[in-house]
Amino acid sequence: MLRNTDKSAIGFVVAALVFFFIGGTLTTVVPPLVDKTWAKPFENHDPSKGPTGKLKPYTEVELKGRAIYVRDMFGTKRTGPDLSRVGGKYDRQWHMTHFRNPRDLTPGSIMPPYPWIANNPEEFDSLVAYLQTLGRAKDWRPDNDYEK
Ligand code: HEM
Repeated sequence: MLRNTDKSAIGFVVAALVFFFIGGTLTTVVPPLVDKTWAKPFENHDPSKGPTGKLKPYTEVELKGRAIYVRDMFGTKRTGPDLSRVGGKYDRQWHMTHFRNPRDLTPGSIMPPYPWIANNPEEFDSLVAYLQTLGRAKDWRPDNDYEK
């Protein structure tokens, strides 16, 4: 025989499952139905700029820059911010100032200066070309892109 307390315990479990189901549906099934861009995560939302979302291989210069980037990051622990979408955030001049001395832009920055990159036009151009590709497969910063 179920007592009243047992019955309300069952009620709580059933209610918890119902709420869990509603929460799960609202956060997983409903959003892609409301926002159709979820189905095309790599497509540019401004069609006038063409389908920039397609993944394309690095150019030779970008590959060189990537090699420099890999070469000059000390160790395997990331100390600075995530750079995976830094492409388009700053222009060439900003990167030049930043590599010469990060503290000129961010007082107290712990990022070391990289004068040997800033003073080597070929290395600097390649590295910036690579940095500018980062996160550009999707046009996620349309109103704040220095290249616009
Ligand atoms: C090739 C090596 C490196 C490159 C290309 C690079 C590039 C950058 C860029 C582009 C930013 C701006 C990020 C943003 O505003 O979203 C930045 C910021 C920063 N980086 Fe680096 N970085 C390098 C090495 C390092 C190292 C070795 C450290 C730390 C030991 C470091 C620490 C930081 C910090 C703390 C910031 C935040 C802003 C500041 O304090 O200047 N970075 N870095």
